[in-house]
Amino acid sequence: MTTGWPTLSGSTDDVFVFITGISLVLLLLTSGTMVYFVVRYGRKRNPHPESIRENLLLEVVWTVIPTILVLVIFWLGWKGFVYKRTVPTEAMLVKVTARQWSWGFRYENGRESGVLKVPLGRPVKLSITSVDVLHSLFIPAFRVKEDCVPGRETYLWFQPDTLGSFDLFCSEYCGMAHSSMITKVEVLPQEEFAAWYEQAPGPAAAAAVKKPGGSGRESRAHEGSELVQAKGCLACHSIDGTPKIGPTLKGVFGKKEIVLRNGKEVEITVDESFIRRQLLEPEKERVKGYPPIMPSQKGLLKDSEIEEIIEYLKTLR
Ligand code: CUA
Repeated sequence: MTTGWPTLSGSTDDVFVFITGISLVLLLLTSGTMVYFVVRYGRKRNPHPESIRENLLLEVVWTVIPTILVLVIFWLGWKGFVYKRTVPTEAMLVKVTARQWSWGFRYENGRESGVLKVPLGRPVKLSITSVDVLHSLFIPAFRVKEDCVPGRETYLWFQPDTLGSFDLFCSEYCGMAHSSMITKVEVLPQEEFAAWYEQAPGPAAAAAVKKPGGSGRESRAHEGSELVQAKGCLACHSIDGTPKIGPTLKGVFGKKEIVLRNGKEVEITVDESFIRRQLLEPEKERVKGYPPIMPSQKGLLKDSEIEEIIEYLKTLR
């Protein structure tokens, strides 16, 4: 593994340890001196206190030393800031979309994923936006964090120097399911990443080469499963029956549910038309017992994609 840059986490930690170290030394020095003075110059040992007016040497010392210290801290911070804001030209670009309440990652070849997969040792630039409210993208292991602002693109970069799986959080309160807005950064060996990146097409590419004949339904269901993952449905809906903030998708077709529609309770059987309405106009009706937080996918999902999702849901028995 060759890296031209020190890792971000390394440079961030150095500054953190430096500042903590200075604080600790100063705390011990001032507290120690204070305790010593209390003992040494208490009224018992020093019944007639003298009045000390000024001491030029002392004043120069306690002005100059802290000034130098804060300038050093500023210089380290500035250096780190410039480093963090300067993206290496060979960085791989990934577009990030934050939404209530999931993450979407889109690569330059159109590949989409709900997990951020990156190759080892190559700098990655995340170009970030939000489709609804403010979120914040935070990868503690890489010491990077950036706001996700609707209508604006922000960015950050990092260089993964260790193989493994790392947490990626939303670190700004964004509503009901903020705490489930979690995913992973998976750092893969370069060949493994290349295989994933090149061989598995994104939903858009797959739609273009839809297989004819009997396998069509199966491949649509497969695309549907990728969409459900990439579009973040799984943040609120489980596929194995586990209760989450929204109803589980397991066995959803043909299920009888009580829904609230125009303030009235109605019993319905889940069918294609209900799923479609839930995706496009979730504000009009919702399954009883669940909060009204399902975001509308109108304009976010193509008609063919909705069909793929429905095809997939039918397989969840
Ligand atoms: Cu998104 Cu908190």
